[in-house]
Amino acid sequence: MKELFNDYVQSLETYIMFQIKQETQRLTPELTAKGRKPITLAMGAPVKVPPTFVTEKLIDAVKEDGLHTYTTPKGEAYLLEAIAKRMKNRFGIELDTKTEICSLIGSKEGLANMIRALVNPTTDKEKQDIILIPDPGYASYKEMVKVSGGLAYGLPLTPENNYMPNLDEVAVQLEKDGLSMKRVKALIVNYPNNPLGAVCTLDYMKHAVEFCKKHNILLMSDAAYVDMVFEGQEPAPSVFEVEGAKDIAVEFFSFSKPYSMTGWRIGWVCGNKDAVGVFAKLKSTIDTGIYKPIQKAAAAIINSKEGDEYIKEANKGFEMKQKLVVQGFKELGWDMDKLNPPKATFYLWLPIPPRYKSSKEFTDAVLNKSGVVLVPGNGFGENGEGWFRMSIVAKDEDMIEVIRRLKEDGFYFEK
Ligand SMILES: Cc1ncc(COP(=O)(O)O)c(C=O)c1O
Repeated sequence: MKELFNDYVQSLETYIMFQIKQETQRLTPELTAKGRKPITLAMGAPVKVPPTFVTEKLIDAVKEDGLHTYTTPKGEAYLLEAIAKRMKNRFGIELDTKTEICSLIGSKEGLANMIRALVNPTTDKEKQDIILIPDPGYASYKEMVKVSGGLAYGLPLTPENNYMPNLDEVAVQLEKDGLSMKRVKALIVNYPNNPLGAVCTLDYMKHAVEFCKKHNILLMSDAAYVDMVFEGQEPAPSVFEVEGAKDIAVEFFSFSKPYSMTGWRIGWVCGNKDAVGVFAKLKSTIDTGIYKPIQKAAAAIINSKEGDEYIKEANKGFEMKQKLVVQGFKELGWDMDKLNPPKATFYLWLPIPPRYKSSKEFTDAVLNKSGVVLVPGNGFGENGEGWFRMSIVAKDEDMIEVIRRLKEDGFYFEK
């Protein structure tokens, strides 16, 4: 049977988080028996319940007549209007609800379908359309490009470039690697970044806009974590704060992380009307949108004071958890002052102790001995080798237990 499936699917890997989940499930009985019941810090999913405000709105909407039929992939007018209002209040951006916004079944769906809409599929490596992606970056980008029949080319995000690579230098390197900028269809930027937690400046967004204009390519800004910046820090910019960005950019937003609504599957893409239009047409042949009560509840939360308050509290919680974990890793020998923990997201990105040969060797050892589930850095791209990511989303007592186990099991940086 397998040979019936296309070449793009044949080369696909199961999404790394699901691979880790399967392995953790397999090891759970054994680990539990030795007092190391798995604590998972792998998936980027907050464990808090969503705001009561939104769950109550959902319950009310579920009982409403007329909300149980098919909807449209673009989204109901009340959702699109609420999004336009949010974008105006939050970033000062005007969006036309009819042409410049489309709802998403989570931003993952949106990113995958936008890439699919851009790439002319081929297995011919000499001809493949190229999508520029952050490296390290969200693990799905690369596979999304692969399954669309394109080639993903990594932008090096390093401490030396402050996680904001010069794009003109990337273009030079790409040509040196025997590829051509003429084959590039889009640039994906993601700030605040998963897995690094790095935030970019508005100047960097300007640089990205100029670069995409110069090369006539689509700028895809993944803003899934835009609200998850710690209090007192400079807010993360939207690409649309750059003058003229709408000429070449779209931006992806999600309800998943800020409101702990990962399972609800709702987000939006907005910006350039040609891109949004083609994308919505593609979606109209694939899906039929999001359950209306979810759209209704989501529309209510994004412009509510309860929603804003929840985000503020959640960010405070992540900042406190980060402090706790940073202290723990300091005690374990990591040079946390030099490592400069991020001021956004709920991720911590750390080097593996030097005695381990690879990220995977370290994360496997920690899982097998301590029952702590981490993600090897190379899962986020070549530049992630030698690092690991932990999501600091678990309960405080679990985070404390993680540090206790790592100490007891000898996972010190040097030893
Ligand atoms: C950078 C980034 N973009 C997009 C997503 C997808 O989020 P969702 O589909 O829940 O909106 C994730 C999820 O982890 C992510 O880390």
